Amino acid sequence: MARRKIVAGNWKMNMTPSEAVALVETLKPLVQSEDVDVVYGVPAIDIIPVVEAVKGTNVAVAAENMYFEEKGAYTGEISPAMLVDAGVKYVILGHSERRDYFKETDADINKKVLKAFEHGLTPIMCCGESLEQRQQGITMDWIRQQVKIGFQNVTADQAKTAVIAYEPIWAIGTGMTATSEQAEEVCKGIRECIAEMYDDATAAEIRIQYGGSVNAGNAAELFAMPDIDGGLVGGASLKADFGKIVNYK
Ligand code: PGA
Repeated sequence: MARRKIVAGNWKMNMTPSEAVALVETLKPLVQSEDVDVVYGVPAIDIIPVVEAVKGTNVAVAAENMYFEEKGAYTGEISPAMLVDAGVKYVILGHSERRDYFKETDADINKKVLKAFEHGLTPIMCCGESLEQRQQGITMDWIRQQVKIGFQNVTADQAKTAVIAYEPIWAIGTGMTATSEQAEEVCKGIRECIAEMYDDATAAEIRIQYGGSVNAGNAAELFAMPDIDGGLVGGASLKADFGKIVNYK
């Protein structure tokens, strides 16, 4: 079974609610696609207006984070039920910026992944090595650990529906895209790790994105690789270029 490509924007901490609606309107004619799933990962405060603005289109909305508790005294956090009620379908979890600046651990991310599934949200779980780790030759060991802990107690049926985003930290926001061979090597390694943890059928269905300086010029080559099922796009998701990335062929 051929996997459907999934191209997701990660807006990060950009776009006020009114700017967000304007961006959705600008992108509307550009991101139409029959064969690619299109997702906008938006700041929490933009979720409600963006869900409204994409109604009737092919675009789904992702949150950029979520807490792993149901409700209660967690000032400033957002629960899975809040996201679901607002019309969110995906949640980006464990982005390297959250791991780095907000000290999220693999164990925290695992709790969030499990909670997302419990509420019917599709996690886009990020993983990726630093430049130092790549130079030390431990890229795949590091990523296997992130995937194995992140997916602890996730069932095969859940894992089949998940998305993993491989984002080498050195390629994020730097313009230093991984070569398509480097990206494919790790995405293939992630698929092999899923096959070991579950089975070949699960590995064949899970979708693995590449992220890190994806743009209109390099998307086609990256997405043509056999184990790369689309991209998680930061900077270029805020521009008309995102439409070219969605329609990369
Ligand atoms: P970038 O960000 O495309 O700006 O490199 C990607 C990401 O952090 O998801």
